[in-house]
Amino acid sequence: MANSSLEFTLRPFRLSDADDFFIYAGDVKATRFARLSTLTSKEEAISYIQNHCIPHPYFRSICINDRCIGCVFIAPEKGEDRCRAEIGYGLALDYWGKGITTRAAKIALSEGFKQFPDLVRIQAHVEVDNKASQRVLEKLGFQREGLLRKFTYNKGAIRDLFMYSLLSTEFIA
Ligand SMILES: CC(C)(COP(=O)(O)OP(=O)(O)OC[C@H]1O[C@@H](n2cnc3c(N)ncnc32)[C@H](O)[C@@H]1OP(=O)(O)O)[C@@H](O)C(=O)NCCC(=O)NCCS
Repeated sequence: MANSSLEFTLRPFRLSDADDFFIYAGDVKATRFARLSTLTSKEEAISYIQNHCIPHPYFRSICINDRCIGCVFIAPEKGEDRCRAEIGYGLALDYWGKGITTRAAKIALSEGFKQFPDLVRIQAHVEVDNKASQRVLEKLGFQREGLLRKFTYNKGAIRDLFMYSLLSTEFIA
């Protein structure tokens, strides 16, 4: 980032992140492509952090100077599917276009492959119109595997998604 005095970190969520997290998670534009339903109050942000982010196996707050500006997660499957996990991320609008998500996702991939030793594949489902997210994945070395037609509902409409993946053997830390 341009200003070297800004400290960039990933850390587990705290309930006290609710106000800052709500700037991202309560913004209709920022959450347009996310699976997360756009939150409507600080109370919903507290509840989401308490019930989803904190118990999650790997859900990190992307922070500048310890203040939450977004999130990144690695969600491993269980049982016979434990070889794979889903990655997801989102960032408050003011911080888009500065390389922050690519940097955060790279750390998350590195930590995820270490924390979950059965993982050999991390994948992402991305809406066809979500060019920024596709670019993030491509910068990280993900391969686009194909188009999943009429795959899911999001924000009230049925969506076509691209499937991306990165194998542990392809990841360059
Ligand atoms: C997707 C998102 C996380 C990207 O965050 P970011 O920090 O801005 O990403 P980066 O700056 O690391 O990289 C973005 C890249 O996309 C490119 N990009 C942005 N908008 C683009 C567009 N409309 N078309 C093509 N490329 C685009 C940028 O130029 C950049 O590429 P570059 O480094 O080659 O110039 C952010 O836009 C976001 O939070 N979106 C909403 C939530 C979301 O979509 N989550 C992912 C669900 S799969």
